[in-house]
Amino acid sequence: MVYEGLLDRYGALLNLPAHTGQVSLLEGNTPLIPLPRLAQELGGGFELYVKFEGLNPTGSFKDRGMTAAISEAAGRGVETVICASTGNTAASAAAYAARAGLRAVVLIPEGKVAAGKLAGAVAYGAQVIQVQGSFDDALALVIEISNRTPIALVNSLNPYRLEGQKTAAFEICDTLQAAPDWLCLPVGNAGNITAYWMGFRQYDALKQTGLPKVLGVQAEGAAPLVLGRPVEKPETVATAIRIGRPARGEQALQAAEESGGRIIAVSDSAILSMQRRLAAEGVWVEPASATGLAGLAAEIQRKRLYGRDQRVVAICTGHGLKDPDIISQTMRAPLRVHASLAALEEVLGSITNT
Ligand code: F0G
Repeated sequence: MVYEGLLDRYGALLNLPAHTGQVSLLEGNTPLIPLPRLAQELGGGFELYVKFEGLNPTGSFKDRGMTAAISEAAGRGVETVICASTGNTAASAAAYAARAGLRAVVLIPEGKVAAGKLAGAVAYGAQVIQVQGSFDDALALVIEISNRTPIALVNSLNPYRLEGQKTAAFEICDTLQAAPDWLCLPVGNAGNITAYWMGFRQYDALKQTGLPKVLGVQAEGAAPLVLGRPVEKPETVATAIRIGRPARGEQALQAAEESGGRIIAVSDSAILSMQRRLAAEGVWVEPASATGLAGLAAEIQRKRLYGRDQRVVAICTGHGLKDPDIISQTMRAPLRVHASLAALEEVLGSITNT
């Protein structure tokens, strides 16, 4: 069977209006990669998988929601779409709008947007506007504009974004033949955790796949859902989730609670350390994407999440290529040698002796 994208595969299970078209870049169908060695390092006795969402067409999970949101907007005759973004939504909206022949306007916070995301939005032809403020300021502006004009909002407040993003839960159940015991994922604006919970519940009602406990993980400097109040100046190395007022915060808390899970925060150093551990398994993700697994590691260490024979799925939301600068800032620079055999032999000697 030819794969034609998420709306083709799961459209019948998505609550989309009849006018919805089909704007696809063949997103989804991402691998669920087993990581037995990392599971062992974390204490062993359980199955660990990462769903590598960085392998979507624009390098993040946003493409799942965007195929639905842009397909709906295009089908309704919208000409321009708008979003606020820490970067990934911007790149995804830009790509799908380009595919549909629509204009995309993306608002990003000043500074702190990873280079690969900004470059993507520009390359796909979006009008990029840098706002002198935070993501939360930018989101408030695009909500206001979309209320006043025919410009369509494609942030995850748009319900069709969540409809598309539910498909990741369907894929996990289809691959494992059941829901995992735990699902760990990063939480920023809280659309994704909300969508996963909707998806798992729908699949369970339909196919008795069971429900996971959901561990949502924020960065300590941007953890409004853990603190129980908005964070005015969120700060974290995981710039994708540098968000102080999550639009779907209430639903995220509800998903965690209903599932028997929770929302916790981890430090930037724990995030970067997990990014390195994942890369050591051959899976290079951007810092935000290592946050779910960093939370898992912390909970295992506190003995708050452990049970033999459990299946854990961690969502790695975006590709490491999106944020190359963090690597040059936090990891070793390449060695430099003269272009001579002697120089190379000397360097190789020192490497193989250590
Ligand atoms: N991981 C990555 C790589 C992200 O880009 C985001 C959100 C999240 C996790 C959190 O997902 O917001 O649904 O809770 N990025 C948005 C953006 C905010 O603008 O690209 P969430």
